[in-house]
Amino acid sequence: MNQSLPRLGRISKAVIPAAGLGTRFLPATKATPKEMLPVVDKPAIQYVVEEAVAAGLSDVLMITGRNKRPLEDHFDRNYELEEALSRKGDAERLSKVQEPSDLATMHYVRQGAPRGLGHAVLCAAPHVGDQPFAVLLGDDLIDPRDPLLARMVEVQEREGGSVIALMEVEPSQIHLYGCAAVEATAEGDVVKVTDLVEKPGPGEAPSNYAIIGRYVLDPAVFGTLRETEPGRGGEIQLTDALQKLASDEKIGGPVHGVVFKGRRYDTGDRGDYLRAIVRLACEREDLGPDFRAWLRRYVSEEM
Ligand code: G1P
Repeated sequence: MNQSLPRLGRISKAVIPAAGLGTRFLPATKATPKEMLPVVDKPAIQYVVEEAVAAGLSDVLMITGRNKRPLEDHFDRNYELEEALSRKGDAERLSKVQEPSDLATMHYVRQGAPRGLGHAVLCAAPHVGDQPFAVLLGDDLIDPRDPLLARMVEVQEREGGSVIALMEVEPSQIHLYGCAAVEATAEGDVVKVTDLVEKPGPGEAPSNYAIIGRYVLDPAVFGTLRETEPGRGGEIQLTDALQKLASDEKIGGPVHGVVFKGRRYDTGDRGDYLRAIVRLACEREDLGPDFRAWLRRYVSEEM
C-alpha cells in the first residue's frame, strides 16, 4: 500500500494521555489525579472528553497509571448517588451525575512506566489499530466556543497524514513547547510542517509556532515511535516521532499544522489554571453575574 495516500474513513478514536504525576499541584494531587481538579465545578478532564465528543470522536482511550482510579469512576455510573438524587427528586443534579458516563465509550490502559508522551501514545497502538486518531493532552483546555479539533479532523481527512495544533507564542515562551518550522499554504489557518524541535534551547527555535496539545495522527506514528530514542528529559517524545514523519512523507504522509487563534488555558500551570477558572466562571450564566459583580468590587477595592 502506498503510505503517502490519504487514509480515508471517519476518525472516531481519541486518545487522552493522563498518566502524569501532577507534581506542580502538590499537595492537592497527592491522592487525587491532577485531571480531576475542578475548573469551576467540572473536573478538567471532562472538558477534554467533551471536546473530543464535540468533534465527533466518541471512542475515548485514556492512558492512565497508578492512583488514577477516580478518572474511571468519574466516567462510570454511580448508582448509589443516582438513587439518592432520584429519591429526592433532584433531576438537575441527577443529570449532572449521569452526564460524564453518557458522554462517550471509555477505555483505559495503563502506561506502567513513565517514559514520556511518545511512550504514552504508543500504549494506544493495539486499541487504535490502522486508522488515523486524535490525541488530546489534558493540560490544555480549549474553550468550547473555539472549535479546533473539528477543523483539524477536516484537514486530516482532506490531506491525509498527520495534523498538529499550533499557536504563536512570545519567543521567550517557546522553550516550554514543541516548536514547528512551517511553510504557508493556500489556506490562512493551515501550514505545512517541515521540521519540529521539542522544547528548543536558546537559539534553537525555528519559529514561534508552539505545539498545543491537540494532534490528529496517521497510525504510521506508532512504527516511528517504536524506533524513537529517548530525547529531551530522557523521555520518548511525540515531537521527535512527528519530526521523522515531517522529514519523510513516505512514512505516513505529510504533517500539517492548524494555527489556533482562540482561547486556550494551560491547566497544568497554577497561574493559568486560576485564570481559566475566573474566565469560565465569569462567563457562566448561573454563576457569572454575581461572580463578576464581586470580582469588580474586589479589584477596585482590594487590589
Ligand atoms: C507536551 C509536548 C510539547 C507540547 C506541549 C503542549 O509537553 O511534549 O511538544 O508543546 O505538551 O502542552 P509537556 O507540556 O507535557 O511537557
